[in-house]
Amino acid sequence: AAADAGSGERVFGKCKACHELEDGANGVGPHLYGVVERAVGSVAGYNYSGALKAVAEVWGVEELNGFLENPKGYAPGTKMGFSGLRDVEDRANLIAYLQTVGG
Ligand code: HEM
Repeated sequence: AAADAGSGERVFGKCKACHELEDGANGVGPHLYGVVERAVGSVAGYNYSGALKAVAEVWGVEELNGFLENPKGYAPGTKMGFSGLRDVEDRANLIAYLQTVGG
């Protein structure tokens, strides 16, 4: 089935405790405004672990899909404390939603 950004907005509920979608609004995690095609680890003023830049340069769809499936498997040492989204449709829908937010 085609990715559905509306369903992805609901999946984003799992991210909200740590991520905002407003540019500059960092929390536990960096803000995710325009994150699709954004350079990895590039939000000013956010203190990254360094683990992400070791495995990817840009958050393209493929990189996001791999990271969100299994964050600690994809980027060993990441401080993102989230177990991941095992459902491929949830990931596709979420990434479609993130593509609608900024960038
Ligand atoms: C980093 C997405 C859930 C905490 C990131 C990054 C992305 C992302 C794309 C890298 C951003 C960049 O390079 O600027 C998501 C999505 C989530 C989610 C889509 C939901 C499916 C969470 C949750 C937490 C969290 C629930 C907190 C419990 C963090 C932290 C980082 C991070 C601390 C920085 C990691 C590091 O520097 O190693 N997240 N995240 N995230 N996220 Fe998440």
